[in-house]
Amino acid sequence: MMEGLLFLGFVAVISEAAPVELYSRDKVLRLKPENEQHLQFLRNVSLPEQVDFWKPACAELVTTNGTVDIRVPADWVAKLQSELEKIALKYEVLTEDLQILIENQFDQRSTRDIHYNYEAYHSWNEIESWTARIAEENPDLVSRMEIGKTYEGRSIYLLWVGNRTGAEKPAIFMDCGIHAREWISPAFCQWFVKEVVESYNSIPLITTLFNQLDFLVVPVINVDGYIYSWTKNRLWRKTRSKNPGSGCVGTDPNRNFDAKWCTLGSSSDPCSEIYCGPHVESEKEVIAVADFIRNHSSIIKAYLTIHSYSQLLLYPYSYDNSLPFHHKELDDLAWNAVEKLRSLYDTKYTYGPGASTIYIASGGSDDWAYDLGIKYSFTFELRDTGQYGFLLPESQIKPTCEETMLAVYHITHYVLDHLY
Ligand SMILES: *[C@@H]1O[C@H](CO)[C@@H](O)[C@H](O)[C@H]1NC(C)=O
Ligand SMILES: *[C@@H]1O[C@H](CO)[C@@H](O)[C@H](O)[C@H]1NC(C)=O
Ligand SMILES: *[C@@H]1O[C@H](CO)[C@@H](O)[C@H](O)[C@H]1NC(C)=O
Ligand SMILES: *[C@@H]1O[C@H](CO)[C@@H](O)[C@H](O)[C@H]1NC(C)=O
Ligand SMILES: [Zn+2]
Repeated sequence: MMEGLLFLGFVAVISEAAPVELYSRDKVLRLKPENEQHLQFLRNVSLPEQVDFWKPACAELVTTNGTVDIRVPADWVAKLQSELEKIALKYEVLTEDLQILIENQFDQRSTRDIHYNYEAYHSWNEIESWTARIAEENPDLVSRMEIGKTYEGRSIYLLWVGNRTGAEKPAIFMDCGIHAREWISPAFCQWFVKEVVESYNSIPLITTLFNQLDFLVVPVINVDGYIYSWTKNRLWRKTRSKNPGSGCVGTDPNRNFDAKWCTLGSSSDPCSEIYCGPHVESEKEVIAVADFIRNHSSIIKAYLTIHSYSQLLLYPYSYDNSLPFHHKELDDLAWNAVEKLRSLYDTKYTYGPGASTIYIASGGSDDWAYDLGIKYSFTFELRDTGQYGFLLPESQIKPTCEETMLAVYHITHYVLDHLY
């Protein structure tokens, strides 16, 4: 009897401590391909899925003289290293043992108290209760609505933030958590709402701001994937929809929007990390966001989507190398925003059109929003540049959010001064 109870307790602790997919002694390598032979080699190693591409998200997106971060399974490390040396493909080891990084992130979760801890990563249950509570406690400033359901039937929430003056106000739409493993993203959306709530009654500039415009914040779009990254596989990226005829699960929601869908920089293979889905807007999570934005396109003046990692601020286009009509203005605005961001902790961001700054990718939400007529459309890729990657420690949540607030507020003030 005693033994039975102890055993159950043990299992419960384990299942909450870390996802079951193990990455013991796997390494993360950063490669610097310099020629066609290197590219071919990377395409070859990606085929049998021996390595997992972190940045960019798959081998087809690799170009010469950029950097590539890959996860290499433990039993492949030695062989791969010798092959890299054979073809003189330069690399450095970013992470010696990935499982240790993952476990640290779960073990070192800050203890929670009755107040919500914004410097911790939160499970979906915690975030869901938080969305209810923050709306309940700030009824004049925040209201919560459900904009749709996920594939597995969970609610996708939007927090409508701004003083309800009764007049129609311009709005900025911001979403987080479109890719499951990018945990700093939902942490930022939560931080943002907290900051607004805390400063609204005490900082006149913020009071004025939220009397003049609204922020429409979706803290987690890809809820099913987010939960999977907490319970089964810390490095899950896509949705969790089943693909008929394939053993592989999920679509990349950021390849599923109606923006030159499934052309360059996306894959029609359900097993790919950048699978575009069976058709445009096949994912319920994508429909929810796209429908909401279409329905409110007369008031939405800016679209911000928060990802990680790489420290980039991107504007359209990503789907090809063409430049948007407002290229000059977006470029100036991006430059000013990253300067503001850098002023706090000297964190350096690169900025520019998606295609030339990171890689070509069709079906992305930022291009779609821009082509819908939302002029100020930006993708943030938050910290870091690869030391921890998706496993950014909790100790970096606060500085990351603080500096990102400066960029977001800069864009907000600019948009308000340049309404269209
Ligand atoms: C890449 O870098 C190598 C070595 O520095 C250089 O010779 C080559 O021209 C570069 N290729 C491109 C496409 O920039
Ligand atoms: C890639 O694979 C092809 C076919 O197996 C092979 O001929 C080629 O040598 C490989 N290239 C590299 C750089 O490994
Ligand atoms: C919110 O808007 C109402 C209606 O315009 C206004 O009376 C009120 O002062 C505003 N709240 C704050 C804190 O400015
Ligand atoms: C958008 O508007 C359509 C038609 O009015 C409505 O059926 C749908 O529920 C709305 N969706 C959202 C997310 O607002
Ligand atoms: Zn992402």
